[in-house]
Amino acid sequence: MPCSSSGDAASEEYPCTRLIYQRHPAPHRSKLLSGENRQVIYANGFSRNQQNYRYFSYSSGQRNTGIGNKIVQDLPRNVKIVEVGPRDGLQNEKNIVPTHVKIELIHRLASSGLSVVEATSFVSPKWVPQLADAKDVMEVVRNIEGVCLPVLTPNLKGFEGAIAAGAKEVAVFASASEAFSKSNINCTIKESLARYNDVALAAKEQKIPMRGYVSCVVGCPVEGYVPLSNVAHVAKELYDMGCYEVSLGDTIGVGTPGTVVPMLEAVMAVVPKEKLAVHFHDTYGQSLSNILISLQMGVSVVDSSVAGLGGCPYAKGASGNVATEDVVYMLNGLGIETNVDLGKVMAAGEFICNHLGRQSGSKAAIALTGKVTANVSKL
Ligand code: HMG
Ligand code: MG
Repeated sequence: MPCSSSGDAASEEYPCTRLIYQRHPAPHRSKLLSGENRQVIYANGFSRNQQNYRYFSYSSGQRNTGIGNKIVQDLPRNVKIVEVGPRDGLQNEKNIVPTHVKIELIHRLASSGLSVVEATSFVSPKWVPQLADAKDVMEVVRNIEGVCLPVLTPNLKGFEGAIAAGAKEVAVFASASEAFSKSNINCTIKESLARYNDVALAAKEQKIPMRGYVSCVVGCPVEGYVPLSNVAHVAKELYDMGCYEVSLGDTIGVGTPGTVVPMLEAVMAVVPKEKLAVHFHDTYGQSLSNILISLQMGVSVVDSSVAGLGGCPYAKGASGNVATEDVVYMLNGLGIETNVDLGKVMAAGEFICNHLGRQSGSKAAIALTGKVTANVSKL
């Protein structure tokens, strides 16, 4: 049977992918897969629509049988998205973004339903001048309700500054590569872990939750290959010192499922998978496939950045994180709950892209705002 945009979608079965929407509350995945509450939409116009829509691409045909069914069933029902745009995104901007724009961006992201928005970094302003206003940003956003606003802290000085400004959660960031550790935080991996242990003790004393990052998990901008044992070692050290979650960063975006799977296997042998997050930069366009394979392996926390902003100033050539809009679009398509309103994240992305004077790095956002004129009804 051919594809069509007309008729009752709920009663039609086409072996193709279609774009459909529904209102919250989202149905249980089994309902999604059995085809209830479906309605065909068109790409144009949705960026202006602030209603609580959920978009997803829906694959009909042979969906409920055999291996396809197993793959979908193995995926988590809920995924937590950690939005890192205000930090990872804006730390890499050539021109410094004004404080009030950062604050507005954080407000918009928080109101989209994201439960975690990494707000800024309490790092040396000489190293990252883009985030030198961390205190000013934090003092305004600190009391936004219903969202965690972790901040990066490279040492005790950063931790103390963050807490004084009202931060209620911090994140430390180590590297699996010695060369990157040196270039990013000016110390060896061992020294960095000792510093983070001091931060962990202070955080424990003040009952401040601490997240941990491991950078260069599948490649280093200086050393290239990074041994899996290094990644597992650093992840375990961070977990053992009290990080409630360890985010595995492909800092330069070189990973593919072929390298991500063995890396996750190595880390999962020493840190429970429930405590892991993945953090993919999208330099080689591999992020969504890497996320999907990570979900299949039991990870249920994904870092992403609105409009695909980002990069590390000390990892030249690395592009931004995977775009939050693209991640939400894919997860919606899989019937995985995120509690995130895609329309509102798109509006936040449009806000910051207008300020930066550039097009969004999110393909889903570009398509859904009608900048791509493909008529989805003909897909
Ligand atoms: P250093 O120069 O070795 O520090 O930098 P130091 O201890 O020798 O102190 C030098 C000066 O910095 C002193 O000031 C300190 O007070 C000051 P002075 O006496 O010269 O006036 N200082 C600080 N000021 C403010 N806040 C602080 C702080 N600490 C010292 N916390 C340091 C060492 C770690 C501070 C520096 O290298 C740094 O700030 N690096 C941060 C780099 C960074 O933020 N990179 C991007 C984030 S990581 C990332 O993006 C990867 C991730 O996304 C995951 C992934 O993608 O893989 C997380
Ligand atoms: Mg990063």
